[in-house]
Amino acid sequence: MSHEEFPTDDPAVVTCGLPYANGDLHVGHLRTYVLGDALSRALRRVGQQTAFVCGSDMHGTPIAVNAAEEGVDPETFALEYHEQYEETFPRFNVEFDNYGHTHDETNTETTREFVESWIDNDHVFEKEIQVAYDPDADQWLPDRLVEGTCPYCGEHARGDECDEGCQRHLEPGEIENPESTLTGNPAEYRERDHKFLRLSDFQAYLQGFLDRMEGTDNAKNQPREWVDGDLQDLCITRDMDWGIDYPGEGDGETPEDLVLYVWVDAPIEYVSSTKQYSERVDDYDWEDVWKIDGEKRHGTEWDDDWTDAGGEIVHVIGRDIIQHHCVFWPAMLRGAGYNEPRSVLATGFVGIDGKALSTSRNRAVWADEYLEEGFHPDLFRYYMVNGSGLETDVDFSWDRFAERVNGELVGNLGNFCYRSLLFAQRNYDGTPDTEVSDDVRERIEDAVDEFGAALDDYRVRDVGAVAVDLADFGNEYIQRNEPWKLVDEDPDEAAQVIRDCVQLAKAIAVCMQPVLPGKAEELWEQLGEDGSVHEAGLDDALAAPPADFDEPTELFEGIEDERIEELNAKLQERIEEATEDDEEGSDADETTDDEDTMDFDPEPLTEKRIAVDDFEDLDIRVGRIETAEPVEGSDKLARLEVDIGVETRQVVAGIKQLHDLDELPGTRVVLLANMEKAELFGVESNGMVLAAGEEADLLTTHEDAPLGSKIR
Ligand code: MSP
Ligand code: ZN
Repeated sequence: MSHEEFPTDDPAVVTCGLPYANGDLHVGHLRTYVLGDALSRALRRVGQQTAFVCGSDMHGTPIAVNAAEEGVDPETFALEYHEQYEETFPRFNVEFDNYGHTHDETNTETTREFVESWIDNDHVFEKEIQVAYDPDADQWLPDRLVEGTCPYCGEHARGDECDEGCQRHLEPGEIENPESTLTGNPAEYRERDHKFLRLSDFQAYLQGFLDRMEGTDNAKNQPREWVDGDLQDLCITRDMDWGIDYPGEGDGETPEDLVLYVWVDAPIEYVSSTKQYSERVDDYDWEDVWKIDGEKRHGTEWDDDWTDAGGEIVHVIGRDIIQHHCVFWPAMLRGAGYNEPRSVLATGFVGIDGKALSTSRNRAVWADEYLEEGFHPDLFRYYMVNGSGLETDVDFSWDRFAERVNGELVGNLGNFCYRSLLFAQRNYDGTPDTEVSDDVRERIEDAVDEFGAALDDYRVRDVGAVAVDLADFGNEYIQRNEPWKLVDEDPDEAAQVIRDCVQLAKAIAVCMQPVLPGKAEELWEQLGEDGSVHEAGLDDALAAPPADFDEPTELFEGIEDERIEELNAKLQERIEEATEDDEEGSDADETTDDEDTMDFDPEPLTEKRIAVDDFEDLDIRVGRIETAEPVEGSDKLARLEVDIGVETRQVVAGIKQLHDLDELPGTRVVLLANMEKAELFGVESNGMVLAAGEEADLLTTHEDAPLGSKIR
């Protein structure tokens, strides 16, 4: 069952993964918030009623541990970060309609209601399980208080997630070789009663849900493996003080000292935050979004009619928390009689220098640091949203940042708007008094259509590109028509060209607003418009601009090479310090890291040098895997068809056991095209796909060099 196109008659809510109130925000976190903000602005732009909500995630072991280290209670500790985030987001033009936190009254109450509803509907049971225990510290070791080996992939894993390996959520008792992070001693497993949400009740529902769910491919595909296999029930309680009490705690029947697992009350904050928003405004009712009207609200089934019964719930997250949003959360909602998400957008990760960001090692570019450099927030927003595909993992780089800013914003968009408005102002005091030409009107109509189409597919990058493409068209249009010559030769024609350009500038302001809201407002003012660009709709792209406006100023300032060199040097120094820390194996406060370095001893470098010409002999191309299937009779080999722009190549690669072949189509790879042909198990191999290491980590490009591009 497919969903209606935006705008629908129902209200929408856009949410962003809640930041743990546990440390400073870095550019990785900001990817989620900038994208969510741009998306919610774009939805409003097409006329979709939308609330944009979030809040701080206050619970969980890392916060309790870090607070204890600082000698403050967890609430005080977390509230401090909460307040800091509340101030930081608007400075990136990330404007939530409501920003709450998971420890507030609304969320405590909503969470209780959810859990009670699961209990009433018989989705909760109690079970004795093995929980890690530190005999020296004489305490239970929930989540991050225990480390060990992931039972699924064998990597080192921490607490409730395998963050260095397969990224899976881990249940209490699953970690092998458990060690206490409190004392560093081996931990024991002891028996303890805990409460579980019976996820297996929702298996069929979840399978159907994934068929309906929209969003990024990673969010749609990754959870398949989990919902098609044995669905493990979810332990929803923890032996801790810090958190929301399990309902009935202390009644003599329920095990004592249990709080709810942080991943229970965290997503429920999406609902609570929407509630708080709807309490403040008249025209938005949270129940219209989150609840399903109709009788069979509870149960484990889904009626296709319900797809239009509630509102449009859109979650924006990083790819590390797909399982929580596409498996646990929909089951939690369904179990309490709530609506389901319409879409989940999971972004790739931001790293630096090929490694994950690390808070404890200071391998990061910090939100505050960016602002202190004096760069406008919209530049960062543009780089984050338009610098790469949504699902691509990227390395933060000042060079790339400057490339985008100088090329697309300064050189193209800013340049077009400035030269057009300046010419218009000097020669006509504003907008020339004539109609827009048909060609330009059609070009703007196409842009508006593309805006809507891209939004419907959640191609936020393409939404952002609409304005830049219009500017590209505009620059070319000016260049072709040379209005500076026409002013004397053919004044009517000159007025026409400039009239068109002013309209293009206005359309650009309207279309750039989701990604570049601050700069769009500046342009709007330069056009002499009353009111705010944020109130304008897509239709305004073709509405006439004011007849008079003042002399414009340049929207964007170029970033000098020296500036970038300085920033690079500073970052490089930081990377080196962080790497030294890696080598010393410093494990100071790792509780907020999302690092994925592995123990690895690289081969020594080859002494023998080669000439440039030798390298030139290698014809290496950018390609994309179109088909991947096992080679019959071979344990290791797979047959791939790789599109390398010029043609499609069949190659045989020894990656059968190292990759999920179904996942490979669509993957961008790098292919040695003039490799000698070979025949393996009767299949011709015409080229070689490049890969690194024992696991055949496939090489790719980080931007979007066209298929067939030569590697130099
Ligand atoms: N508190 C949980 C989310 C609960 S949602 C009900 C959490 N917090 S977090 O602080 O670790 O991350 C906040 C957001 O930033 C998440 O969407 C997460 O995926 C994203 N990212 C955190 N580090 C990131 C990168 N290095 N790169 C891209 N996104 C990253 O997870
Ligand atoms: Zn694992």
